[in-house]
Amino acid sequence: MNEKKNSQPNEESVSRRKFLHSTSTAVVGGSVLSSLAVPQGVFADHHDEVKVALIGCGGRGTGAASQALKTYDQGPIKLVAMADAFRDQLDRSHDILKKEQPERVTVPEEQKFVGFDAYKQAAEVADVVLLTTPPGFRPIHFEEAIRQGKHVFMEKPVATDPAGIRQVLAAAKVAKEKNLKVGVGLQRHHQAGYIETIKRLQDGAIGDIITMRAYWNGNTPWVRKRADLEQKYGRKLTEMEYQMRNWYYFNWICGDHITEQHIHNLDVINWLKGAYPVKANGMGGAEVRVGPDYGEIFDHHCVEFLYEDGSRMYSQCRHQVGCWNSVSEHAHGSKGSAQINPSHMIRGENPWKFRGRGKNPYQQEHDDLFHAIRNNEPYNEAEYGAKSTMTSILGRMATYSGKEVEWDKAINSEVSIMPKSFEWDAPAPNYPGPDGIYPRPVPGQSILV
Ligand SMILES: NC(=O)c1ccc[n+]([C@@H]2O[C@H](COP(=O)([O-])OP(=O)(O)OC[C@H]3O[C@@H](n4cnc5c(N)ncnc54)[C@H](O)[C@@H]3O)[C@@H](O)[C@H]2O)c1
Repeated sequence: MNEKKNSQPNEESVSRRKFLHSTSTAVVGGSVLSSLAVPQGVFADHHDEVKVALIGCGGRGTGAASQALKTYDQGPIKLVAMADAFRDQLDRSHDILKKEQPERVTVPEEQKFVGFDAYKQAAEVADVVLLTTPPGFRPIHFEEAIRQGKHVFMEKPVATDPAGIRQVLAAAKVAKEKNLKVGVGLQRHHQAGYIETIKRLQDGAIGDIITMRAYWNGNTPWVRKRADLEQKYGRKLTEMEYQMRNWYYFNWICGDHITEQHIHNLDVINWLKGAYPVKANGMGGAEVRVGPDYGEIFDHHCVEFLYEDGSRMYSQCRHQVGCWNSVSEHAHGSKGSAQINPSHMIRGENPWKFRGRGKNPYQQEHDDLFHAIRNNEPYNEAEYGAKSTMTSILGRMATYSGKEVEWDKAINSEVSIMPKSFEWDAPAPNYPGPDGIYPRPVPGQSILV
């Protein structure tokens, strides 16, 4: 895969390697990122082996690596490097993948990287990187992957604050200039029922779309309690390590569940509209899921988003047991209504129901990305990934502050929620009080993010 700088390509390989040249010699201008060197030899076609690095070896990362490797029918592919903040996470993921696809998992010990800087080293030995850590790190990892000239699959959300969104948008621009392919794990865009329903709605099946609704009301996904972690590892954890292990409950690394989870539903509505909200107001808090193990995030958010054309999206997300649950998106128009998901159904003047069967969208998104990489087709999902992430952050800014928040001000916010440095004993952005409870944002009193 890695082509030597001075090799003399024959005629056939010249055409097969067109992508090499478009990737490595693209004229790039302007940004700091684009002025940095692009490594030689980044290309792929049906005969070439694609080398993949997994960065963030948890549940989703292991799944994403498995799905990337299952694109082997498009051409040879190997997992060659893995990186994680924690060795035990890396080892578990490696064991699962090695068992599942032994011939395609060839990660030598010296290409297993651990710690905060592991991502840089893993990316260096790969052609494609899978960025599947918690979202707080995504802007840093994405920027570096693009700087190194790698194709990227990155999970949603792509950031947790506006500074991170701006960083991702800047790197996405450079990715385009360098002809690098970028997939984002908003897999509904690769799901047949969604694609067909959205197309019909955009073609006018329910007339003018006036109102949209989006929900992720469910239960708490998981919690890693400090006491259990300290028992497991037989020592006290630094605050940074604890927050990294129990990341779901810390805003800087997770973004709150409106960003981490509900982004999927908000993104579907943005996709339908072909636009992003101009402002939002909302309310939220932590009523039921409270206590020292649940960090600083809210357990419910209810947000009204306004689009430029005057239409509104009403959004709810909740992590409370025993309540009405729904993970769904809906649209209401002048000629009917639609349940975009789960039933992919249109009612009114043009009734319709999706009856097809698509592939697992988690697999499909990798099939599509690797097809684009191997065939040198345009592919960059980073911009809508970033703007849908920003939509969720806008909603969070509205519920945390209790104020009406405008997109333009929000996306330019200079408030950073990230730690100043990444070391195991570095200060965390938020600490618990003497009762073990973390301070949470107070609507009406808190700053915007
Ligand atoms: N698209 C989807 O449907 C979907 C589903 C689940 C998760 N996700 C997303 O995938 C991402 C990961 O979620 P998960 O459920 O796999 O979490 P996880 O906790 O299982 O895995 C995250 C892994 O990243 C590692 N990590 C954390 N910080 C790191 C760093 N700085 N460098 C290297 N490794 C680091 C952790 O140690 C852990 O192994 C999240 O962004 C989540 O929102 C998407």
